[in-house]
Amino acid sequence: MSKIKDLIRKNIKELIPYSSARDEFSGTGVVLLDANESPYNAPFNRYPDPVQMTLKEKISGIISTPVERIFLGNGSDEAIDLLIRIFCEPAADMIIVIDPSYGMYKVCADINNVAVDFVSLNDDFSLDSERLLAAVREETKMIFLCSPNNPSANLLGREEITRILSEFKGMVVLDEAYIDFCGTEGLLPSLGEHWNLVILRTLSKAWGLAGIRLGMALAAPEVIQYMNRVKYPYNVNYLTQAKALEMLGSSENRENWIKEILAERIKLEDRLEEIGYVLKIFPSDANFLLVRVEDPNSLYAFLNKGGVIVRNRSGLTHCEGCIRITVGTPEENIRLIELMKLYPQ
Ligand SMILES: Cc1ncc(COP(=O)(O)O)c(C=O)c1O
Repeated sequence: MSKIKDLIRKNIKELIPYSSARDEFSGTGVVLLDANESPYNAPFNRYPDPVQMTLKEKISGIISTPVERIFLGNGSDEAIDLLIRIFCEPAADMIIVIDPSYGMYKVCADINNVAVDFVSLNDDFSLDSERLLAAVREETKMIFLCSPNNPSANLLGREEITRILSEFKGMVVLDEAYIDFCGTEGLLPSLGEHWNLVILRTLSKAWGLAGIRLGMALAAPEVIQYMNRVKYPYNVNYLTQAKALEMLGSSENRENWIKEILAERIKLEDRLEEIGYVLKIFPSDANFLLVRVEDPNSLYAFLNKGGVIVRNRSGLTHCEGCIRITVGTPEENIRLIELMKLYPQ
């Protein structure tokens, strides 16, 4: 049995997935009377391609990754949930999540009744692979890493990640939602070297498409096959597939937006530094800044009242006094700074 198959839950290995008549037919020019759809209102009347082949082929070309290694979902949040469901036996298996990090790893684990061990990052938010590996128990099936990490905004050390990949006997999920803002390629080019690596990517950030909900998991073909068996049959709707294909047709917008956001990030840092009650701006490899201030709760409430919504992260590990600010348009950033300057100290 393969290492991956060994880790998959027994009921998932034995699952007979839903199959439609169209999965069983591979011709063209047919009369479709199999799925009880309406014959009217084309093209919306038809169920979308359940395996999103045209879109996957497009993405495959862009990220230089074979179609068999690509899972597409309703945001990368869907992939997080599916991975936990496929690998973790409820009330028995466990996952490790770095702390602080993106909240959905724990939410999905809780929903699936899978216990979480948190392993804190160092004070400067760097990853200590030794400490993380020491926390692995017999029940630990998966480790969730996020790089650049949300909310700390930093890239995790490549050597630390690679060490975890080679020493841990379970699956390692590396969430690269913000990778397009950091100027490096991340681990995707070495996906084939690690049997247990699952990379998460999304169109919600640099591509400016959070509203259409399209995320992906990139992994060994065997993992992708299990994800496809467990997902809802038509998990990525017709409109999302069509809009994604259109937007992926040209990367010009995306490249310009990234440049603009990075330039604005620098400006925002400079302006924030001039504000007396800003105590620290953490270095960022993402499209947001983690900023330590004197009184985050009252600043958060003040900004909120003034119509500028930021994220209060002060309750998280190593984030005492911190708010997280997404880099907006030049106008939005100016509005934020103007309001911050009005804050009574
Ligand atoms: C680290 C990280 N991963 C995933 C997501 C969600 O991505 P998606 O919109 O594809 O579900 C977010 C959203 O903020 C995030 O910060």
